[in-house]
Amino acid sequence: MPESTVSFNRHRCDFAVFPQECVASVIHSGQFLPLFLHVEFAATCSMTNARCPISNDVSRAADILRSGGLVAFGTETVYGLGANALNEQAVARVFEAKDRPHFDPLIVHIADRKWLDRLAEQLSPAAKLLADEFWPGPLTLVLPKKEIVPDLVTSGLPSVAIRMPNHPLALELLTLVDLPIAAPSANPFGKISPTTAQHVLDNLGDRIDFILDGGPCDVGVESTVVLMTEDRPRILRHGGVTQEQLEAVIGPVEFHSSEFNEEISNSDSHAVAGDASQGTPSGAVAPGMLAQHYSPTTPLVLASEASDASVSGKRVGLLRLSKSSTVGDDFPELAAVETLSDDGDLRIAAAEFFAALRRLDSSGLDLILAESFPEEGLGRALNDRLRRACHQ
Ligand code: TXA
Ligand code: MG
Repeated sequence: MPESTVSFNRHRCDFAVFPQECVASVIHSGQFLPLFLHVEFAATCSMTNARCPISNDVSRAADILRSGGLVAFGTETVYGLGANALNEQAVARVFEAKDRPHFDPLIVHIADRKWLDRLAEQLSPAAKLLADEFWPGPLTLVLPKKEIVPDLVTSGLPSVAIRMPNHPLALELLTLVDLPIAAPSANPFGKISPTTAQHVLDNLGDRIDFILDGGPCDVGVESTVVLMTEDRPRILRHGGVTQEQLEAVIGPVEFHSSEFNEEISNSDSHAVAGDASQGTPSGAVAPGMLAQHYSPTTPLVLASEASDASVSGKRVGLLRLSKSSTVGDDFPELAAVETLSDDGDLRIAAAEFFAALRRLDSSGLDLILAESFPEEGLGRALNDRLRRACHQ
């Protein structure tokens, strides 16, 4: 290697602000080459252009949000990609960073109920019961919106989705910034959701301003989304609060079937994307529930639907619920196995699910087989993610 000189450049001040980010430059063969080193993360960072600072500095994160920047932050469900929900330019950057179609509205995160009154019309008795019972927590309520919420956030819908996350650092951030924060999951649109700061760094590190590291997410699947704008509540997305838990508080709750959205995702989904003035396709109450989502790059199929022929000659990996699962017995030549929980505990399985799928996806496999979950409790949310991840 020719002789090189290493020197810190003008970014030295960043070093003082973010102790874990050290930005250096290399003068190599007379050329000036910037070199970005994340000292704490250098060993594990899998993207060379991931230059976004990571820390647990809440004040720094709040400053960035206040000035219209994008901050990914940990919640109890998955990492969110946050922006000031009242700043349309900041919200537009969220859609851009994720390559998210504009027909898919964002969840607004709050820590203080005063924002609920400012953003949404008065709560129905059922909505109030649910907020009282499950907030802070993995429940999102879709409520009639007030004028103050930009159309860009709601994709032109007359409703706004609101949630109060149950994560100490996220709540501290929301309290400090004292703004409603629009935050979809911090993954490129349609891809596997992030449950660690490293996942966000790997996927969006070169597109966002800061990652507030809240550690690995405890719940591991997204919030349950419940539509509260009609006479009867409807679950639009299964998630961290189970249907059983909801029904124990407000009685029977239907699940919204997403056949309509299947049609959208089977056509060219980006054909209906555009600015918020285009709104959502008429009749879509759950515009984001597309048949294909959470997708690994490696083809994924349900183990129950795989045949000898479909695995023959391939490097195959298996995602299974527990050590006692027999699903792998039919496929003896497995190149990798991820077990979500020793004894099939669905809460542990949910917390591990996305990270395990990512590990399999980066194991150089030709095919991933996955075991279905019992269709109860968190198993419903996991089966939903699995079905969409399998959809080609
Ligand atoms: O746990 C979560 O909910 C995470 C964390 C970051 O809070 N967020 C999350 O956001 O999963 P996202 O954007 O990946 O999913 C939000 C879902 C989308 O499917 C979207 O279509 C739906 O909520 N949604 C948002 N606003 C809506 C509205 N007004 N009406 C119907 N669905 C809405
Ligand atoms: Mg998402």
